Amino acid sequence: MNNNIKIIEEINKLKKEKDAIILAHNYQIDEVQDIADYVGDSLGLSIKASEVTNKVIVFCGVKFMAETAKILNPLKTVLIPDKTAGCPMADMINAKDVIELKKQHPGAIVVCYVNSSAEVKANVDICCTSANAVAVVNSIPKDREIIFIPDKYLGSYVESQTARKMMLWHGYCPTHAFIDAKSVIQMKKDHPEAEILVHPECNSEVIKTADKVLSTGGMLKYAHESPCKEFIIGTEIGIIYRLQKQNPGKIFYPAKNNIICPNMKLINLEKIMWSLEDNVYEINLPGNIIKKARLSLERMKEFV
Ligand code: 13P
Ligand code: SF4
Repeated sequence: MNNNIKIIEEINKLKKEKDAIILAHNYQIDEVQDIADYVGDSLGLSIKASEVTNKVIVFCGVKFMAETAKILNPLKTVLIPDKTAGCPMADMINAKDVIELKKQHPGAIVVCYVNSSAEVKANVDICCTSANAVAVVNSIPKDREIIFIPDKYLGSYVESQTARKMMLWHGYCPTHAFIDAKSVIQMKKDHPEAEILVHPECNSEVIKTADKVLSTGGMLKYAHESPCKEFIIGTEIGIIYRLQKQNPGKIFYPAKNNIICPNMKLINLEKIMWSLEDNVYEINLPGNIIKKARLSLERMKEFV
């Protein structure tokens, strides 16, 4: 029997025994997406995690996503199959930085991209994802100063859509920063009929080339509904598998070769099996952090 089939059988057996559910992000490798009970973007995963009734959540994504699941559903055991799966952008700001920013700008509202640590989320007013950042910022009274952390590119995209000037932190995603406008323009020359969809973590020059700027969940929805048959995709390549699977008659071109988030690729079937077997690696957070971070995440969930 093929080794993957054996592992999948074992995963399904362990899932039943442990009353576990597998949640996966759109950037996960193909076979992880295939065995997951739910695949989605950060907002969809947050909502799904908060509704889980199983005892155990195996989170196939990066650490901030698994932490978010724990914060939103703290009585569940949340496991991440590879404990080193982090997000470099989330590591570009810490709680001390946020406290300092708030001291410098008393009265400002702190809007925090969900790609951040639990400690950071515990010190902000409201979280957002790429799917609802514009709506979250639009909800803030016009006379309030806004600090947006940690993604400077998402922040400047939100500024352009809301006509609000914000204080931006200098974080960014190295995977999306690798995408350059020249490559996208070349792809468009090669495929003139294709629509360009890019993630708002891309830089402003890339965003200028786009027909649509969307979260990964937004890209899936848009590509399915659009009459267009070809798309250039400006985000991590893991999503191409799902786009292709849901739209067999359409063609999806990565905006550039090798747009890969190495952290998202750390999880595989074997690690999921071990995770379920040994209950590793459990996400544990201090109660006071969960309590405070939950407020900012619950506010985020109101903007679906
Ligand atoms: P989405 O919420 O759009 O899936 O994005 C998550 C992410 O980490 C993008 O790099
Ligand atoms: Fe973080 Fe970028 Fe990877 Fe998303 S793609 S998890 S922002 S490093």
